[in-house]
Amino acid sequence: MLSNKIHKHFENKVIWITGASSGIGRALVIALSSVNCKIFISSRSEEKLQATIDQCQDNKNNNIILLAGDLTSKQVNQEILQQIKQIAGKLDIAILNAGSCEYVDIEHFDSALFERQMNTNFMSMVYGIEAALPLLRSSADAQLIGMSSTAAYMGLPRAEAYGATKAAIRNMFAALRVSLLPQNISSSVICPGFVETELTAKNDFDMPAMITASKSAEHILKGIAKHQQEIHFPKRFSLALKFIASLPNPIISWFVSKTILKSNKARI
Ligand SMILES: NC(=O)c1ccc[n+]([C@@H]2O[C@H](COP(=O)([O-])OP(=O)(O)OC[C@H]3O[C@@H](n4cnc5c(N)ncnc54)[C@H](OP(=O)(O)O)[C@@H]3O)[C@@H](O)[C@H]2O)c1
Repeated sequence: MLSNKIHKHFENKVIWITGASSGIGRALVIALSSVNCKIFISSRSEEKLQATIDQCQDNKNNNIILLAGDLTSKQVNQEILQQIKQIAGKLDIAILNAGSCEYVDIEHFDSALFERQMNTNFMSMVYGIEAALPLLRSSADAQLIGMSSTAAYMGLPRAEAYGATKAAIRNMFAALRVSLLPQNISSSVICPGFVETELTAKNDFDMPAMITASKSAEHILKGIAKHQQEIHFPKRFSLALKFIASLPNPIISWFVSKTILKSNKARI
């Protein structure tokens, strides 16, 4: 349930949400479906995007529009934004959330995995930003939102590729929030801890402070409404990681090997 203030922020806005066919993206669409706004949703699976729409009880005015495609293609991003322009004539908020997580097996270090992760998580976002910026520039209250992760805060074993893509996104947004300000585009990066989704269902290790996808959607929409530069949650987890990441490198490495590496080894 969104507060009146958050509800008001999204009213009459045109919003594009990527990765909306499951998990956090789907939860964002469901939460926003009670607001009078137009939402364009994208991911590869048309069927799963339709399932997202079917789960929105408040889509009476057909305000949620499905635009499926593989976002690792620059062309697909351009075509989606062309359609948004034709249908809505504007774009106020782009929430670039699509992504995947593949873990590195250090015994079989594979550059193809890094390439896939960079394409899915980072390059798809870069193509999305390139396609969305011209429309965002003509909005009076434009917001560009990118999905990173608390995995961006420090190097974690097995997340050498995933973490690198999320650190790249967080770094890019630190620059964008300064360079886009003169163009009146506000930007935020999202750094969630563990959220219960298809992505984390594959994890075989302990996931402390895990929250539901609908709770994560509440945090994200509240952060967007407040124009927070970095939306991180749950605080008990994200603040602890930020603190550890601020310590000297040898202490971080000691902590990671004593906790995460030990927990990984116990499962092998
Ligand atoms: N869950 C967590 O704990 C957590 C924590 C921090 C950050 N995140 C980030 O949050 C985002 C959403 O993750 P989630 O947990 O909600 O996972 P999810 O349930 O697996 O959702 C991932 C979404 O991305 C879409 N996607 C993947 N590859 C795509 C591609 N090539 N083109 C278009 N869409 C693509 C998927 O749709 P299709 O398969 O239909 O394409 C799906 O809608 C990701 O960027 C993830 O890294 C998640």
